[in-house]
Amino acid sequence: MSAPPIESYAVLDSTNAEARRRAEAGLFGPVWIHALEQTAGRGRQGRVWRGGGGNLAATLLIPADLPPAQAAQISFVAAVALCETVNALAGPGVARLRWPNDLYTAGGKVAGILVESGPRPGGGLWLAVGIGVNLAKAPPRDQVERPAAALADIPGFTPPAPADFLADLADRFESWRRTWVHDGFPPVGKAWTRMAEGLGGPCTARLPDRTLSGTAEALEADGALRLRLDTGEVVRVTAGDVFFGET
Ligand code: BTN
Repeated sequence: MSAPPIESYAVLDSTNAEARRRAEAGLFGPVWIHALEQTAGRGRQGRVWRGGGGNLAATLLIPADLPPAQAAQISFVAAVALCETVNALAGPGVARLRWPNDLYTAGGKVAGILVESGPRPGGGLWLAVGIGVNLAKAPPRDQVERPAAALADIPGFTPPAPADFLADLADRFESWRRTWVHDGFPPVGKAWTRMAEGLGGPCTARLPDRTLSGTAEALEADGALRLRLDTGEVVRVTAGDVFFGET
């Protein structure tokens, strides 16, 4: 199994922006784009994502011949590969996933994933799977919405350099991507559920038009989060900010 090549830059505005530029110029990869520093890194919901300084900022640009809803499942492929990479280094169960694809340690959020996509002129899509991992340091508390941490905060653990972490992640990503291509979403969803925290507990979903609270029941077959409201009504959450635990 060989993972796509990794192209490393000293500085980029954003590895996702570079992936988009390439895709819009007709280059769809597969390729990993890695930057040691980002000057305009971006997170989900239009937020800023600071990278660099020993943290990982990388994007996999890849073509996909799938309907958009199915292609979006790649964010769970990425999450499972990412969690597996961290736990292989730091210890089993040290990192856990929170829906849809945030990675947490006991200290807080250590990694996030931002998937962007667009059409290819001949049909199909390009996907840019951007992954940011706080290997060396967490962003300052006043710059993040959720408590953040870094892998370097784990007692007795020294995180690898970004390029070494990415080489391992790229191999695991390729292996999970192949599983997804050959066997579909079920094995990915099962692995995600095994690595997740927050399921079965209280959860608040901040949707564009309303905020809902209830119990996070499960990951559905298409990647939606099944939320049971206190009224008993079941809602499928497919996007939005979700917070686990008592608020
Ligand atoms: C999140 O908000 O949780 C997602 C953060 C994703 C950040 C990564 S860093 C590499 C890639 N390039 C970007 O500009 N963003 C993603």
